[in-house]
Amino acid sequence: MTHDDCTPEPVLKARQLTRSFGDGEARTVAVNHAALDLYAGQVVLLMGPSGSGKSTLLAVLSGLLRPDAGQVLALGQDLWALSDKERERFRLQHCGFVFQGYNLFAALTARQQLEMVVRWGEGASARDARRRTDEVLELLGLAKKADLYPADLSGGEKQRVAIGRALIKNPKFCFADEPTSALDWHTGEHVIEQLRNAARDRGATVLVVAHDARIIPYADRVFYMEDGCLRETEDEAQVRELVLRQHTNVPHAGDLAELH
Ligand SMILES: Nc1ncnc2c1ncn2[C@@H]1O[C@H](COP(=O)(O)OP(=O)(O)OP(=O)(O)O)[C@@H](O)[C@H]1O
Ligand SMILES: [Mg+2]
Repeated sequence: MTHDDCTPEPVLKARQLTRSFGDGEARTVAVNHAALDLYAGQVVLLMGPSGSGKSTLLAVLSGLLRPDAGQVLALGQDLWALSDKERERFRLQHCGFVFQGYNLFAALTARQQLEMVVRWGEGASARDARRRTDEVLELLGLAKKADLYPADLSGGEKQRVAIGRALIKNPKFCFADEPTSALDWHTGEHVIEQLRNAARDRGATVLVVAHDARIIPYADRVFYMEDGCLRETEDEAQVRELVLRQHTNVPHAGDLAELH
C-alpha cells in the first residue's frame, strides 16, 4: 500500500515475524511470517483457535519475547535491535498490558496495584496517583473494592484491576490478552468500551485477543490467526462463522483460504 499525505503512518509495523518453540519432532511454529501495520486510535481484534499463536504474537509485538526472525518497528524504533534495558524502558513508557493470567501482586490491594504504576512509572505525587487511581477504579466499577487484595477479589474483578493497571498510564499501546474471558457479557462489554475510549479519546493503539464474536462490532479491524499464520479480514460474517466453528469443533482446514 502506498501512503499519500492524508494516510497516517503506522505506529507499529511488523514484518516477517517468526517464532517457534522446541526442536525436531516437537517443534511448533507458533508465529509464521506474520506481518501487520497498526495505527493510532484503533482497536484491533485478534481471533483464532487455542494454540494458533495469538499470545506468542502479542508477546513478540510488545517486546516481551524475542522472535527467531523478523522486525517490529514501534514508534519508529526497531524494538528487537534495542538493548534489553532500552526495550524495557520502551515498554514501561509506552505499553499497557493485560495478561491472560492477570499477573497481579498478591501483597497489594486493588488501589495499590494501580497507584504503583503512576508513582513508580511516572514519578507522580501520592495525591495525583490516588486521584487518577480512584477515577479508573470508579470507571471500571471497582470503587468499593479498592482496599481488597487479589485473593479476596472475584476472577472478573481481578481482570478489571489488571485492565485498570494497563489503562491508568494512558499508554500509546495496550496489549490485552483475553481481557474479557472471566467476565459476564455486560461487564465485558463495559471493559471493551473502556479500551475503545482509550483508542478514540487518547489515541491509543489497542490490540485485543478475544474468543467472543460479540466483540467484533467494537473493533476497527479484525485479524484471524490459524497455525501461526495471520490474516486480516474485512468480512465480519466469515470471522463469526470461523469462531462459531471453532467453538463447535467442526474441522476448519482451509478456512484461512476462504478469507481471501
Ligand atoms: N514457552 C513455550 N514452550 C513451548 N511451546 C510453546 C510455548 N509457548 C507457546 N507454545 C506453543 O506455541 C503455540 C501457540 O501458543 P499460544 O500460547 O501463542 O497460542 P494462543 O493462540 O494464545 O492459544 P490460547 O487461545 O489457548 O491462549 C502452541 O502450540 C503452544 O503450545
Ligand atoms: Mg493465548
